[in-house]
Amino acid sequence: MRLKCNSCKLIQLWMTLIVLFALKVDALQRLKFERHRNPEQSHHNLKNELKSLSIKHKLKVEDATTVAPSKDRGTSLGNYANTMYYTRIEIGTPPQEFSVLIDTGSANLWVPSIQCTSSPCQNHRKYNSTASKTHVVNNTNFRIEYASNAGDGGVALSGFISQDIVKIGSYLTLNQGFAEIIDEPLKPFLNSPFDGILGLAYDTIAVGGVTPLLYNLVDQGHIEYLGFSIYFQRNGTNALNGGELILGATDSRLYSGCLTYVPISTAAYFQFQMTSATLNGTKLCLNCETILDAGTSMIVVPVEAITIINKLLGVTNPNDSSGVFFVDCSTVSLLPDMVFTIARKELPLKASQYVLQYGNVCVSSFTSLEGNSLWILGDSFMGAYYTVFDLEYHQIGIGKAVQ
Ligand SMILES: *[C@@H]1O[C@H](CO)[C@@H](O)[C@H](O)[C@H]1NC(C)=O
Ligand SMILES: *[C@@H]1O[C@H](CO)[C@@H](O)[C@H](O)[C@H]1NC(C)=O
Ligand SMILES: *[C@@H]1O[C@H](CO)[C@@H](O)[C@H](O)[C@H]1NC(C)=O
Ligand SMILES: *[C@@H]1O[C@H](CO)[C@@H](O)[C@H](O)[C@H]1NC(C)=O
Ligand SMILES: *[C@@H]1O[C@H](CO)[C@@H](O)[C@H](O)[C@H]1NC(C)=O
Repeated sequence: MRLKCNSCKLIQLWMTLIVLFALKVDALQRLKFERHRNPEQSHHNLKNELKSLSIKHKLKVEDATTVAPSKDRGTSLGNYANTMYYTRIEIGTPPQEFSVLIDTGSANLWVPSIQCTSSPCQNHRKYNSTASKTHVVNNTNFRIEYASNAGDGGVALSGFISQDIVKIGSYLTLNQGFAEIIDEPLKPFLNSPFDGILGLAYDTIAVGGVTPLLYNLVDQGHIEYLGFSIYFQRNGTNALNGGELILGATDSRLYSGCLTYVPISTAAYFQFQMTSATLNGTKLCLNCETILDAGTSMIVVPVEAITIINKLLGVTNPNDSSGVFFVDCSTVSLLPDMVFTIARKELPLKASQYVLQYGNVCVSSFTSLEGNSLWILGDSFMGAYYTVFDLEYHQIGIGKAVQ
């Protein structure tokens, strides 16, 4: 992802239920991507202004304040409104607890620093290195940029690198490098239900060359296999039972049938080629570059495809520039399946799976961004399909999630 901003990470933060009318202005601002034909180039970040959306439409979005407990081989996830999945980690000795967004579109771990005085930091837990006996000074400057449609060029966070023990699930990783953030922008972090972000992508996109947590788990003998799998519950906000992140393993109890494997085309994000996507007999894509991204709430499709999808779904606001499209809730049971074909396997998504329902408001999961030609399968897809991210053999496994 060579976004225009230097070293932009393609993180699809808690993305997408963007802001309706309030952000119309933002929606008009264009992210400037280099115009390469390479589909890897142009992946935008959508951001989820769920709070604004919920206030505007009085959506029933509950609060999730506690964090998930750990499991043996991995960690339970918290689920925020089916749009953000986060987990608990502990840093330092004695442990300081944080909740971190699970993101497969970036490869760094960061949390707010005790030295950060901005309001987003004040609203979240902050790491105090002085209070940790196992802290190791590093102090290398750190800066990460996330592409976003919120303003020109993206959202930047900066701080410095520190090293300490990081605990995830039952695993203690020694001398893990992570960023202490001292400058965190209001949007979109002010009220995020997580303190920081845990990037799980390939080390090739790790800012500052910091070894990602997953790699250290292997190096330090906690897991044998460089990979993880994800199971997302779709029951709405649930701080304790929102899903599972399984480190170094798969769990056949979480899916039915066999896993379908597809090779990763570029070892950076989890990108692969999808054979096709079909809605009500209309083919929307043929051999399209696709990213599987736990950090994206929705399903991002190329601009040409969204027009067709919106027509077939009969969305009520097809010309809305916000990128959030509504369907009449009473029609959901009549809407056709979206059928993704990946590695010759048909993976249907039912309307009840691709429509997000908040009270009596129904939002289509499909959205697009100007200039983006990639398909991005986010949480709406991952709720229906258990996914395996295999960095050892460079492949993605997909199986029908048990409900
Ligand atoms: C950080 O921890 C140290 C040592 O426990 C403590 O003295 C200091 O007050 C803490 N800083 C803040 C801002 O809480
Ligand atoms: C700081 O962290 C970076 C990235 O992990 C590493 O390359 C560098 O050697 C570290 N510096 C020190 C002084 O440990
Ligand atoms: C999800 O919600 C359904 C319906 O309310 C319930 O039957 C099921 O037990 C819930 N599952 C979990 C894991 O909470
Ligand atoms: C979906 O396909 C069926 C059968 O071809 C057709 O009758 C129906 O009109 C299509 N629906 C839409 C929304 O185009
Ligand atoms: C959306 O815009 C198109 C083209 O400008 C127009 O033909 C159509 O009537 C508009 N649809 C609605 C629902 O406003």
